[in-house]
Amino acid sequence: MKKRVLTGDRPTGKLHIGHLKGSLLNRVKLQDEYEQFILIANIQGLTDNYNNPDKIRNSIEELLCDYYAVGIDFDKSTVYIQSEAPEVHEIFIYLSNFVSIQKILHNPTLKTEIEQKNFEKSTPLGFFIYPIHQAADILLVNADLVPVGRDQAPMIEDCREIARKFNQTYGKKILNEPQPLFGVTVNVPGIDGNAKMGKSLNNAIYLADSEKELREKVFRIKTDPNRIHATDPGTVEGNVVFIYHDLFNPNLDEVNDLKERYKKGKVGDVEVKQKLFEAMNNVLTPIRERRQEAEKIKKQLLERAIEGSRKVSKIGREIADQMKEVMQMKFSRI
Ligand code: TRP
Repeated sequence: MKKRVLTGDRPTGKLHIGHLKGSLLNRVKLQDEYEQFILIANIQGLTDNYNNPDKIRNSIEELLCDYYAVGIDFDKSTVYIQSEAPEVHEIFIYLSNFVSIQKILHNPTLKTEIEQKNFEKSTPLGFFIYPIHQAADILLVNADLVPVGRDQAPMIEDCREIARKFNQTYGKKILNEPQPLFGVTVNVPGIDGNAKMGKSLNNAIYLADSEKELREKVFRIKTDPNRIHATDPGTVEGNVVFIYHDLFNPNLDEVNDLKERYKKGKVGDVEVKQKLFEAMNNVLTPIRERRQEAEKIKKQLLERAIEGSRKVSKIGREIADQMKEVMQMKFSRI
C-alpha cells in the first residue's frame, strides 16, 4: 500500500513561481510514489475573506488550471474541494476537545497572521480555529505524510499531539499521527526584493503571465541599489536577479560569467535581465501553454475535483463514524 500524502492551498488567487519552486514541482514528483491528496482549502480561505466569497470561488478554477499546467495528473492525485467534503467540520468538533485556547494562542504562525490582518482586538473565531481545522483536514484522510516547510513543523506537531490524545483517551488507535515531510525549502523572493512573493505585495510572477508580462516583470526586478552605472562593481549575494538565475537558468557557465562580470562592473543590468528572461521563459513557456489548454477544459477539471471530494467525503465519513463509536455517540451500525 502506498503511503498517503496531503497538501493544500487556500484559493485566494493564481499561483506564482514561488509556489512552483516551493511546492508544485514537489507534488508532481510525489504523485508517483504516494497516494496524494491535494486540498483546495476554500473554507480556510474564507476565514479571512468571508466578505469576499467571489474571490475564493473564482480562484478555485485558477488553482485547477495551475495544477494541470505544472503536470499534476488528476488520475494520480486526488484533487478535492474542502467544502464538498464537510465531514471535516464534524471531525474538527470532536478534535476541539483536545486543544486549549491558550495553546492556539501560542501558535507562532497564527500570531503573525493575526498581527498582519489587524485582528488583535477582534479575531474572528473562524480564523482563530483554523490551525485545528487544518489538523482535521490531515486526520480526515489519515495522511501519513504532510509536505511542509520547516517553519510549519509546529503545525504538524500539534496535529500529532491531538491525534495521540484522542487515541489515548478512548483507548483505540483511530487517528494516524502524520509525519512532516521536509523537502528542500526553496524561498523565492518577490521582484521588489521582499523576502516573500505575494499577490497583495504586487511583486509576483504568475504561472499564467504572458511572455510580455514576464519580460516586463523581469526588467522591473530590483537589483543592487548601490550600483548606479554598469561600470560600478555590484553585489551578487542576495540580489534577486541572481537568485532567480540560480533557480531558473540551467546554464551554469553563463550564470557564473554574469556574476563575475557583475562583481567587476563589466556587465549592465540589461544583459543580466535579458538572459534571465530567456531562461525563465524557457521554463515557463510549456507551463503557460498547458495552462491555456487547461482553461479550455476547466469545467472538466472542476468535475474531477468534485469527484475527488466525494471520495474524500467517504473516507471522512468512515473516520468520523469510528470517532463517534469510541465516544459512544454512534447509534446506528457502521
Ligand atoms: N494552510 C495552507 C495554506 O495556507 C492550506 C491548507 C489547509 C493545508 N489545510 C491544509 C496544507 C492541510 C496542508 C495540510 O495554503
